[in-house]
Amino acid sequence: MNAEEVVRQALPLVVPTDDERKKAREAEKELRKRLDGTVKSPLEYRFLGSYARDTWLKNNLEIDVFILFPEDVPKEELESTGLEIGKAVVDEYELRYAAHPYVHGRVRGVEVDIVPCYRLKSPKKIKSAVDRTPFHHEWLKGRIKGKENEVRLLKSFLRAAGIYGAEYRIRGFSGYLCELLVVFYGTFIEVIKNAANWTRDTVIDIGRKKIYRKKELECLLVIDPVDERRNVAANLKLDNLARFVVLCRAFIDSPSVDFFVARESKAPSIEAILPELERRVVYAVEFEKPDIVEDNLYPQLERACRKLHEFLNRNGFMPLRSSFFAGKKCYLLFEVGVKEHSPLSRQIGPPFEDKEHIKNFLRKKRKYAVFLENGRFWAYRERKFTVAKEAIEYCIREEYTSMGKNIGENMLRSKILEGVELVYFEDLAFLASFLAIGDGNAT
Ligand code: UTP
Ligand code: MN
Ligand code: MN
Ligand code: MN
Repeated sequence: MNAEEVVRQALPLVVPTDDERKKAREAEKELRKRLDGTVKSPLEYRFLGSYARDTWLKNNLEIDVFILFPEDVPKEELESTGLEIGKAVVDEYELRYAAHPYVHGRVRGVEVDIVPCYRLKSPKKIKSAVDRTPFHHEWLKGRIKGKENEVRLLKSFLRAAGIYGAEYRIRGFSGYLCELLVVFYGTFIEVIKNAANWTRDTVIDIGRKKIYRKKELECLLVIDPVDERRNVAANLKLDNLARFVVLCRAFIDSPSVDFFVARESKAPSIEAILPELERRVVYAVEFEKPDIVEDNLYPQLERACRKLHEFLNRNGFMPLRSSFFAGKKCYLLFEVGVKEHSPLSRQIGPPFEDKEHIKNFLRKKRKYAVFLENGRFWAYRERKFTVAKEAIEYCIREEYTSMGKNIGENMLRSKILEGVELVYFEDLAFLASFLAIGDGNAT
């Protein structure tokens, strides 16, 4: 099959059914009724996001309503009134957080976001990220007309690969980014064909209709047409850019509807994982998950993970790979190339010409004699820890305060799982992927 035929076959997988649309319209009608009774001038409400532009993905309906406040309303008032309105118009709700807290709930069984923001004259004066949204909608609504299903194909292609969404847990492509790419390239297939050649230093200037490369750029830059200071792909992780580019090439080489269907990550059996845990040197630092939102938690886990990785590296344990995971609990995972050192390390001393420093170096009391090698002094030093696991414990004890504001204290009370103890890890598919067993790429 060629790409065009595959796309035709994929459409029913991504386009909402008439039933779903009907359900959506009924919820919209009810929601508008409730909003009309609740939102009073000078406030106003607008339907924005993918529902308003008819670019929402089948089985992923969510209606985004923004409550617009005049610029002179204090931020605290915007937040509290925004939440009040949200709670008043949905059936059941939970609080979620973007630039500020907002209400996520249901109306007639349909998911709804009620987000407060400022009504501004220019996107250059935004006070928080969500204030750009009305401008996004204005910019997109005319341009995306007739291309809605191309957006759906792209969202679905990305979702199947686990890289749809800009939230920290995913660090992939946002819905807005998908729509901009479709406007820029025209069709889903053109996005795929062109993205197959993207590099990490690619710049796409949507507003000026230009694409070029910018040396030393670390990851794709997509300039927001409503605010040129903003990178729409700011949250995209380099490896997810890489995943997408490689996937685009694979699709071009052999197009198939499979690219639009989430690949079931069959977790390798425990029998496949156990011998690897026995043989290799793997640790999981397990600790309580603090009660904070994901977009706050993940950067902290990433930071703690990097700190421990670097510590293991500096101390010669040759970390092979590290990763983090948040489920019921939090985990930092490490595999190292060196499990245990001899009790000694060697410490560099001055060259023999350096009179002053030699005096100090020789004055120190030591258990073992200093020695000369290639014209400079060396000394043996007792290691503070010899086993990788002790190094992890030591690093946490010494540096927990700088690991992350909300996870540091919890890390101090962490339990370190080692080797086969990792069978108690929450998500075996993730673990298998971390160990590079099977073909999973969750990590
Ligand atoms: P959504 O996350 O609901 O995305 O944000 P979406 O475009 O509707 O896509 P799906 O179909 O639900 O996945 C709604 C709008 O809010 C703005 C964007 O303009 C987006 O279109 N937004 C959202 C931001 O500006 N920043 C954010 O972090 C999130
Ligand atoms: Mn949405
Ligand atoms: Mn969404
Ligand atoms: Mn939303």
